[in-house]
Amino acid sequence: MNPPKVSGKVNPKTAANALKSASSLRPKLAIILGSGFISVTNEVSSDREIPYQKLAGFMAPSVAGHAGVAIIGRLFDTDILILNGRTHYYEGHSLAQITHPIRVIAEYGIEDLILTNAAGGINRKYKPGDFMLFKDHMNFMGDNPLRGPSIPRRDRFTDLTQTYDPAIAKQIKAAGRKIKTKLHCGTYCAVSGPSYETPAEINAYRKLGADAIGMSTVPEAIVARQCGIRVAAISCITNEAADSNNYPLSHNDVLESGLLAAKTSSKLLGEFTRNYVQG
Ligand code: HPA
Repeated sequence: MNPPKVSGKVNPKTAANALKSASSLRPKLAIILGSGFISVTNEVSSDREIPYQKLAGFMAPSVAGHAGVAIIGRLFDTDILILNGRTHYYEGHSLAQITHPIRVIAEYGIEDLILTNAAGGINRKYKPGDFMLFKDHMNFMGDNPLRGPSIPRRDRFTDLTQTYDPAIAKQIKAAGRKIKTKLHCGTYCAVSGPSYETPAEINAYRKLGADAIGMSTVPEAIVARQCGIRVAAISCITNEAADSNNYPLSHNDVLESGLLAAKTSSKLLGEFTRNYVQG
């Protein structure tokens, strides 16, 4: 039987109910793991792991480094939902499709969301292995996840004057200080990809005020805000963004840098969760 539809899309309540039946835990905190952050799954005491294929409307990621599993469990005494892996716009899906998991977790009861990703450093002070907490973003994807029919109970003209929650950001900064890791705070520029940028584009984005660049996260943050979820986002800087004096960029190099930063990212998310106070 086909799942019920909302505005022509799969109803997020279907997968939310599947998550509720999978475990009696009721986390308020969720983390979406991008490249460079998956090691934290080793620290989670998992109650249930549900492959994305079993969650209505979720798509299995087709990119190396993205597992496609939802984990409901506990991390340092905090109930948590971890979405290990995401699908990207560049895989050919619509922004509505790739942000469906956000609508699901909102229905499930998540109130605070940490988004993570790998990004290229545009700010010349950022080096591979550093981390950046989002202060703000620029959406250069050429599309918006809220485009389309208006959704009942949701504000189509969602306010983004403060997309990233200052109280959660404060807690992440404290965790960064505690584990003594370089945690910058800057503006993330989202592009559609999948090609990397030209040096001319990076130069232009730098002039506009971007500090890091990547191909994800912003659509999820926009939908999360529309759903009233508090959001924070962290990039693992895996490479210096394209530069005419630079070496060619490759996805494998990005993944490799992500692996090198894995221990630190796991400590950062662990330390944050250990002291997490709901906003
Ligand atoms: N550009 C865009 N996306 C990225 C990069 C980059 O340099 N590094 C990791 N994701």
